[in-house]
Amino acid sequence: MTHLTLNTAKEHQGIHFILTSAPKDITPDTAGKDVGEIRFNPAEQKATVSLGAKDKLNLETFRRAGGAIAKWITKNKVTSAGIETASFSDFALAPEQIAFALAEGLLLGSFRFDRLKSKKDEPTPATISFLNESFASTLAQATIICDAANLTRAWAHEPANVINPVTLAERVQELAKEVGLKCTVLDDKQLTDMGAGAIVAVGQGSQTPSRLIVLEYQPPAGTEAAQPVALVGKAITFDTGGYSIKTTMGMVGMKYDKCGAMAVIGTMVAAAKLKLGTPIVGVLAASENMISNVAYRPNDILKTLSGKTVEIISTDAEGRLVLCDALAYAQQTFKPRVMIDLATLTGGVVTALGSTRAGLFSNRDEVANALFKAGEQTHERLWRLPLDDEYFEIIKSTDADMKNSAGVAKASPIVGATFLKQFVNDETPWAHLDIAGVSDWDSEMPYCPAGASGFGVRLLVEYLRGLE
Ligand code: BES
Ligand code: MN
Ligand code: ZN
Repeated sequence: MTHLTLNTAKEHQGIHFILTSAPKDITPDTAGKDVGEIRFNPAEQKATVSLGAKDKLNLETFRRAGGAIAKWITKNKVTSAGIETASFSDFALAPEQIAFALAEGLLLGSFRFDRLKSKKDEPTPATISFLNESFASTLAQATIICDAANLTRAWAHEPANVINPVTLAERVQELAKEVGLKCTVLDDKQLTDMGAGAIVAVGQGSQTPSRLIVLEYQPPAGTEAAQPVALVGKAITFDTGGYSIKTTMGMVGMKYDKCGAMAVIGTMVAAAKLKLGTPIVGVLAASENMISNVAYRPNDILKTLSGKTVEIISTDAEGRLVLCDALAYAQQTFKPRVMIDLATLTGGVVTALGSTRAGLFSNRDEVANALFKAGEQTHERLWRLPLDDEYFEIIKSTDADMKNSAGVAKASPIVGATFLKQFVNDETPWAHLDIAGVSDWDSEMPYCPAGASGFGVRLLVEYLRGLE
């Protein structure tokens, strides 16, 4: 998924990258104006990478610079390069943090998804050496985390004729074996018998019915046993909207409706490889939202795993349905110390926050604050939205315990979160991340090509580390 390998070395022959920033009161011409601008001097084999003005510099600057270096190396078919690290101490950030951020930019910026292209322009494998041997473990950790984020991206890119609930479950089982996670798959029959009527209904119009995929990570022996953190992900492998059908262009991109669950997978892989100290369970709610003579309809009333009943107003508000059963299952089965769900839940959050921040909802200030902080640190940013009881009023139903949608375009991200809240016990600290705006991008970003962003993996790893 990336052709770059990072390591450390004492010295290096050939191209050297040197990072420079301009003092704010001098026209930053000698250093280059924009972050990531690269000037190459062939005689000296020196490539100067601009970090822009010094007073604006932060970790994100280094990620962007790393992304620019990755692109330059690829374009120029460089097979090996060195990164001067002496200047790292010139900046008001810890050198390890700088190395980590640069590594993130390099590894994330070199991602590509070309598995299904018949003509691939295979990039030349390259090794990049940080010229300071003390960064070895920093680079190893960055590699684990970014490989996991790139895995999340790659799986998200797979179209619905490749990944459906059934094939996803098979893939996850294989992956779990490779990385040492426990994996259990509940099929539609087991889900029906169990009473998980919501997730079953969403998938019942598809040839490939719903699966609830459960991943478990146990820290190495000797670590104090604690209640696990539960990560719950929406895995709608394709969202047509069902009978509340989407428009032609509204449907394009709906292969990315599984991004919440893909981020959970990436996070668990990273957790296992980093040997984090907290037990984690991942619950992936996988369905394909299709139309057929047996698909669910508006006005159907579903009995959910929690026992609560839901009247369908829109078959396009399917994410909250698969999640309500997954949340109930995670709570009943694991009694988690904290439960976090990730979902491409609403178009409304895209209207509200665009592609810059994901919506954050929580029943605990501590959890919201810790996640917010992890978002600032990783640049996978969040913004908290409210969960007042009044928002439940518009999803009250005459014939069932609640409706799955208000039927009017009012506060839809909050209404979605309020629906989910009905399935969370007050004793369980919980957060919901609505990632519909940030999980995939229409155009290229500084260290991500157009398409899946892998949003959530770096954020959650940072959050989980904060719990230790
Ligand atoms: N998967 C969509 C949300 C979405 C929209 C993600 C655009 C990414 C881009 C979700 O299942 C959906 O259709 N939500 C509806 C909810 C409504 C019917 C209450 C929406 O936001 O329109
Ligand atoms: Mn939908
Ligand atoms: Zn959806």
